[in-house]
Amino acid sequence: MEFLWGTAVAGHQVEGDNVASDWWDYEERGLLPEKSGKACDFWNRWRQDLDLIASLGSSAFRLSVEWARLEPEPGRLDEGALGRYLEILDGLRARGVEPVVTLHHFVNPLWFARKGGFEERANVADFLGHVEKVLPALAPRVRWWVTVNEPMVYAYFGYARGYWPPFKKDLGLALRVLGNLLEAHAGAYRLIHRSRPDAMVSIAKHMRVFEPARPGHPGDRLAASLQDLLSNRAVLEAFRTGRFLGRTVPGLKGSWDYVGLNYYTRSRVRFVADPAQGFGAEAPPEGETTAMGWEVYPEGLYRSLRRLGRYGLPVVVTENGIATEDDEQRVRYLASHLDALMRARRDGVDVRGYLYWSLMDNYEWAEGFRPRFGLVEVDFRTLERRPRPSAREFARLKGEVLRELREVSTQ
Ligand code: FCB
Repeated sequence: MEFLWGTAVAGHQVEGDNVASDWWDYEERGLLPEKSGKACDFWNRWRQDLDLIASLGSSAFRLSVEWARLEPEPGRLDEGALGRYLEILDGLRARGVEPVVTLHHFVNPLWFARKGGFEERANVADFLGHVEKVLPALAPRVRWWVTVNEPMVYAYFGYARGYWPPFKKDLGLALRVLGNLLEAHAGAYRLIHRSRPDAMVSIAKHMRVFEPARPGHPGDRLAASLQDLLSNRAVLEAFRTGRFLGRTVPGLKGSWDYVGLNYYTRSRVRFVADPAQGFGAEAPPEGETTAMGWEVYPEGLYRSLRRLGRYGLPVVVTENGIATEDDEQRVRYLASHLDALMRARRDGVDVRGYLYWSLMDNYEWAEGFRPRFGLVEVDFRTLERRPRPSAREFARLKGEVLRELREVSTQ
């Protein structure tokens, strides 16, 4: 059985100098706490990083191709940037590593953001035009795709919470952006399959487990299920029905070959009498937490896998990981979450991959460089990479997990 075992990154978080992007512009204008700058300088140090990836026993690696880098001005494909990505993709293959490529990971070209980005339905055509331009080079090299990373998180942070660019707070607008992203996904799905019929295409669906803070409390229960509806169910059901909030999204129905799951934590929800917050506020987490303040809750990975398994498709964990200063906590996190994964597999979910977030410490968006998600430590002064003990543990766990999965599939 083919199993995607490896780590994940995203362009803006690791490459450095993503100068034609909207995030870069907001960083330069001082509207974000930290600048991404050189980030990990993956753009220049990729050979060394690919060797690291191989040394973890990886059979897969998830990365994004930055639209802003590839198309810094409307309609102009930067051949140099494309060439670099092709070298990286070929470098992965040469090391026996299957690339999983994300087309949109939160970041836009500045020119696209200036004309309204995904707020405007008409702009979906710009994204699809870009996808069409890069497919002839990418499709022969890439079988596994993530069209859009966490569409709901992008819409929520950028347009409802106003925490990320473009810092808007308008729930109606957030839902419109989300609908347009689903349309962008469906269009990209069709284009990829036209170029490569055997492609495996999905979004990366961020799943949070929402639970009432007070289990028997009717208000909390209502609020938790409302949050689940908005964050999880609306998008998942849109893939089944082809409709999102009463609108038929062309080509969306059934437009995934696997389900990509990003899982980190659960939220305990308390009722608040405020429709703008979806009637819910987050209660403080229970038990062990991470440097992000997120509860460590491996059971949520099991439950999310079971839930996604009901769509009758393979499921790939496209992200799962922990920010911590304590690498032993990371080792425990890995063990408990892989245990949850194996349990889901034994209980019948067709789990086909696990990609730890992240290969190395990187630019964690509005949180800057503080959160340490990496199996590999990065010294941001010298850009030196130092594999942590958890990197060794990750390589070791591979054998255990794959053996167990093989046993289940032959039973
Ligand atoms: C996910 C993002 C990823 C990273 C992790 C911690 O929501 O997809 O880029 O920031 O969270």
